[in-house]
Amino acid sequence: MWPFNMRIPKEEYEKLLLSVKPNKKVNLPWAEFELDPNALKHLNKINNDPELKRKIIDFLYKFKATEFKYINGGFTTSVFSISEGLVLKIVFTSEDINSFPNFVIKPYEVLSYKGLVVMICPKVKTMGITKKDRLTVIKEAQNEGFEIVDGKDDNDNYGILPNGKPKWLDIGGYKKIK
Ligand SMILES: Nc1ncnc2c1ncn2[C@@H]1O[C@H](COP(=O)(O)OP(=O)(O)OP(=O)(O)O)[C@@H](O)[C@H]1O
Ligand SMILES: [Mg+2]
Repeated sequence: MWPFNMRIPKEEYEKLLLSVKPNKKVNLPWAEFELDPNALKHLNKINNDPELKRKIIDFLYKFKATEFKYINGGFTTSVFSISEGLVLKIVFTSEDINSFPNFVIKPYEVLSYKGLVVMICPKVKTMGITKKDRLTVIKEAQNEGFEIVDGKDDNDNYGILPNGKPKWLDIGGYKKIK
């Protein structure tokens, strides 16, 4: 077992990325998961691009990652837990993401790189989202002049911050009301 709360050295990340192969379970002292095909695609993209790889390793190091666990994702997004309170989110998108309205989870740091957005975000609670939570976020979006156009009624796109505030998680999925 990787000692709890110990920052992962940079060389260990190299090992992780090198061990990412199709149909192979990643098994390192600090990372154990079976990757879903989309997450595999994300990690392969990182693996095949030395500059991107270096940037991401620096990112993880800077934020004192103590683990690397696949949480969830979809076609464009992969989310990994990197410590007790942080996630790494990798998104394939051509959108230029540089502003985050208040109803949206605010990343600590964002890196846009060749059609990819990589972010470090606070970890949210994703269980027990209520209709009230959704309505709170939808209302906040409206007050800020935004409309959620995709997945509004889907609990998956909402999370509760440690301070109890519900936030919208998905990149995109909303637009400015004209
Ligand atoms: N900050 C976070 N903390 C904890 N879990 C998160 C966080 N952000 C996302 N997740 C988890 O990852 C899942 C996927 O995230 P998100 O909704 O942003 O992408 P997605 O809908 O899977 O994207 P797409 O389907 O477009 O690829 C969420 O449903 C949630 O369970
Ligand atoms: Mg979603």
